Amino acid sequence: MARSEEPLLARSPSPNSSTNDIEEEDALLTGQPTNRSPASRARKWREAGLFVWALLATVAVIILAVVYQHESSVARSRPKTGGWGPDGKPTGKRNMIFMVSDGMGPTSLSLTRSWRQHTSGLPIDDILVLDRHFIGSSRTRSSSSLVTDSAAGATAFSCGFKSYNGAISVLPDHTPCGTVLEAAKRAGYMTGLVVTTRLTDATPACFAAHANRREYEDLIAEQMIGRYPLGRVVDLLIGGGRCHFLPNTTEGSCRADATDVVSIAKEEFGFQYIDNRQDFDQLDNDGAIDLPLLALLAETDIPYEIDRVQVSDVYPSEAEMARLALKALSAATKDSDKGFFLMVEGSRIDHAGHANDPAAQVREVVAHDEAFAAVLKFLEDDQTEGVLVSTSDHETGGLATARQLHDTYPQYRWFPEVLTNASHSTEFLAREWAKYLASSSSPSRKEKAQKVADLLSSGLGITDHTDEEVDGIIDATPIWPPAYHFADIISRRAQVGWSTHGHSAVDVNIYASHPKHAPGLVGNHENIEVGQFIAEYLDLDLEPITKELREKKVNTSSSEHQGEAGIQDWGAWMGPPGLPANDNGELVSLDEYHGDFKHRKREAEAGLDCGCGMKH
Ligand SMILES: *[C@@H]1O[C@H](CO)[C@@H](O)[C@H](O)[C@H]1NC(C)=O
Ligand SMILES: *[C@@H]1O[C@H](CO)[C@@H](O)[C@H](O)[C@H]1NC(C)=O
Ligand SMILES: *[C@@H]1O[C@H](CO)[C@@H](O)[C@H](O)[C@H]1NC(C)=O
Ligand SMILES: [Zn+2]
Ligand SMILES: [Zn+2]
Repeated sequence: MARSEEPLLARSPSPNSSTNDIEEEDALLTGQPTNRSPASRARKWREAGLFVWALLATVAVIILAVVYQHESSVARSRPKTGGWGPDGKPTGKRNMIFMVSDGMGPTSLSLTRSWRQHTSGLPIDDILVLDRHFIGSSRTRSSSSLVTDSAAGATAFSCGFKSYNGAISVLPDHTPCGTVLEAAKRAGYMTGLVVTTRLTDATPACFAAHANRREYEDLIAEQMIGRYPLGRVVDLLIGGGRCHFLPNTTEGSCRADATDVVSIAKEEFGFQYIDNRQDFDQLDNDGAIDLPLLALLAETDIPYEIDRVQVSDVYPSEAEMARLALKALSAATKDSDKGFFLMVEGSRIDHAGHANDPAAQVREVVAHDEAFAAVLKFLEDDQTEGVLVSTSDHETGGLATARQLHDTYPQYRWFPEVLTNASHSTEFLAREWAKYLASSSSPSRKEKAQKVADLLSSGLGITDHTDEEVDGIIDATPIWPPAYHFADIISRRAQVGWSTHGHSAVDVNIYASHPKHAPGLVGNHENIEVGQFIAEYLDLDLEPITKELREKKVNTSSSEHQGEAGIQDWGAWMGPPGLPANDNGELVSLDEYHGDFKHRKREAEAGLDCGCGMKH
């Protein structure tokens, strides 16, 4: 057998082969030619063999590197420490961004993922940014019920205590509790709140106000700009809810009194005030953004994302507002040794749940995911260390990604394409319907039916409606309003289920920039541990704030609940007691069963909006 035909690896070494091997290896590694006599045929084979080996090895290394890079970018979005020192304690200048996906339960994620994959033709492993940052889950019950509301839910985040449904950073005994935002401000951090609903709504309110009931939104508006025992604690407020800041003498006000909270904000507390998208964009372009900033960009809620994209010249998105806030707060803390605390809420995931509107909900979740991604990007690019934690206060709607419509055993399916065809929320359609009824001079039943058919087809992409469905909307009552009918029509077609127009008790997910950034929240936790984590990360002591809130009196001479000489007793400044006690006069505790299913009458919601006053 000729040597050249020997298997390459079985060949015995030639006397000078080791030197040649070294030379060849050098050549491969350095790219420099070796200095050799003309190669024999065998040598050429060996060279070729080695070359193939090297090539394979290089390819393997590249593949491994790419896989590793991919895996590490999935598991570790950023190489920074998040501000955690080697001793396991947070250290140095750092920022905390806390996001709340109000009313988003685990099913909201499944629904949205599948819908987006279907709509955008993406593969089954296409997931949300949030999915890649899942670290744990939160148990959400309040002190008064196994099913919490946003007020008790946010009090758990802001104070780190359980309280009763409706409590705005007030404990079950109706004493105020210091919040992480208040303590952060006192510790030298800058602070901000960004929401897509009213700034006076429960979640944002809990960070910078104290009220015995969440319904005291007029009072909450005054407190949030600084008219309460601690003075101004928020540097940046962006969201909706303008109507609670304007005096009742102004158009677009929903206040019960003539207090001009915007003027007080400007004159007493030095706020820069804007109320429209043009000024918002101007701020963004200007570079420096003067704080404190009060940006009230909608009378009540910012429209659902599904509706907003059609009026995006009027309202910014959650991500746009978050980006502006991050820009403003990081610039304002540039020369400080303390960073900032920012709360960003995807507020209306909850509203879509209350409305049982799946087409609106999936767009809300995607909008929140985009805001989450924007915050991650900020943390990656920013010099200062920081941590992002995002969670929900509770689930809303008892959402199910399946629905049995008939007596027969159900098909295992649900239909995302039905949600794709919708171009408006059911809230928008119900409003259009109400406008039509108000403006038309007593239309005939046939005309009404035609209008309903038009709305179903133009707003929801539904043309196969039944007469019963149309009748349901025409004959709807305030107890089961048209919006509920629109929502049911689309939910049935999508085979999406809802078990309530309220909240549910299921555990909700916790997300973070990295598991190592929020070690205390990995796994399953009580919601109060989220608040405790924020305090720990920012190294805050809430006790002195609580003490100060309880001891200080406040002069709110314009308030109707005014005490002697314009000075109120503590407690009174938080409004009249909320759910003080049960029938025995005891402090509220966990709800008991009263056989409600037999006799509870629905209180008809008078308004058409899901805005002011309705419990979320
Ligand atoms: C506006 O508020 C004042 C109290 O501040 C009240 O006396 C008045 O009746 C209110 N006006 C309206 C139109 O509600
Ligand atoms: C969605 O709309 C398209 C175009 O109008 C229509 O062909 C399709 O049947 C609709 N799909 C559903 C599920 O309604
Ligand atoms: C309370 O405030 C009002 C107006 O801001 C002022 O006129 C009044 O003197 C104050 N009362 C006290 C006791 O400070
Ligand atoms: Zn909520
Ligand atoms: Zn709610």
